[in-house]
Amino acid sequence: MRMIDFDRHRRLRNHQGIRAMVRETRVNTDQLMLPLFVKHGEGRDALDAMPGVEHLSIDALRREIHELSELGVRSVLLFGLPKTKDDLSSEAYAEEGIVQQGIRAIKEENKDIVVATDVCLCAYNPAGHCGIVRGEEIVNDESLSLLAKTARSHAQAGADLIAPSDMMDGRIAAIREALDQASYQNTPILSYSVKYASAFYGPFREAAHSAPSFGDRRSYQMDPANVREAFREAESDLAEGADMLMVKPAMPYLDVVRALKEQYDVPLAAYHVSGEYAMIKAAAQRGWVDEEAIVMETMTSLTRAGADILITYFSKDVARILQRDHGNRR
Ligand code: PBG
Repeated sequence: MRMIDFDRHRRLRNHQGIRAMVRETRVNTDQLMLPLFVKHGEGRDALDAMPGVEHLSIDALRREIHELSELGVRSVLLFGLPKTKDDLSSEAYAEEGIVQQGIRAIKEENKDIVVATDVCLCAYNPAGHCGIVRGEEIVNDESLSLLAKTARSHAQAGADLIAPSDMMDGRIAAIREALDQASYQNTPILSYSVKYASAFYGPFREAAHSAPSFGDRRSYQMDPANVREAFREAESDLAEGADMLMVKPAMPYLDVVRALKEQYDVPLAAYHVSGEYAMIKAAAQRGWVDEEAIVMETMTSLTRAGADILITYFSKDVARILQRDHGNRR
């Protein structure tokens, strides 16, 4: 009797050790960047739509940094909740602004933590838009000097990495110039280059108190339908001096992550945003999905698609899981 001929793919799947040996993608703690929200005052405030994420006072932030150091999470992305908002977004670039205080506090606790800062105006002005507002218009060119001032003040406070998320045109050039003039030639820029006008930011806007008071962000953030446009954004940012690129949100845009990875040699970040986090948390709380398994599969997918850096509210969970499993997934 003649045996039919076929491939035995299952040969490499039977043994846990062989599966680990032939695994093509590994998630590593070094990739993780944890977004943190810093507030004035005392204590911690829980966020309704983002269970497990909190607004941290400076003291709470200090304690958080110790916890991160123990888990091996090496970088954070800072967002601030200002005391007051005004039309010029003054607290965004104030020496005693909340982010500036946060940066200094982190550096005092552990200077080895990479402090990245979100540069944007939306949490700092009453209109809740990412640039200066005149009437119903978000004015591009006048916003640039404020964004540049904000970036420079973050660098002066000790930030290691500047991450502009406003999506104004020309912001990378303006920020690069301001950093260079203030002798921060060596401070890198991680540009939110490919940032879509996404419904997945919903919970964040509650978290950052940054929902627009009128209109939406579609005149500056990208249309979710576009991918060729992502190359034009990335080209401009690289030409203007960006050192790293970002795609945001992450999971619904894995094709964009892959496309950018193939086209450019610079490090690429994927931001797994608030809505993506909230959906997993909500389903897990109802017992509909296995949170740990879903989180690790998600991070593996982002890495497989081409993300070098994973910006995620799950960073501590991922680090804990990797620590428990000695850096290897079963
Ligand atoms: C600020 C900013 C936003 C996010 C990061 N920086 C909100 C927005 O653009 O509306 C979203 C992060 C998240 O949803 O987790 N411009």
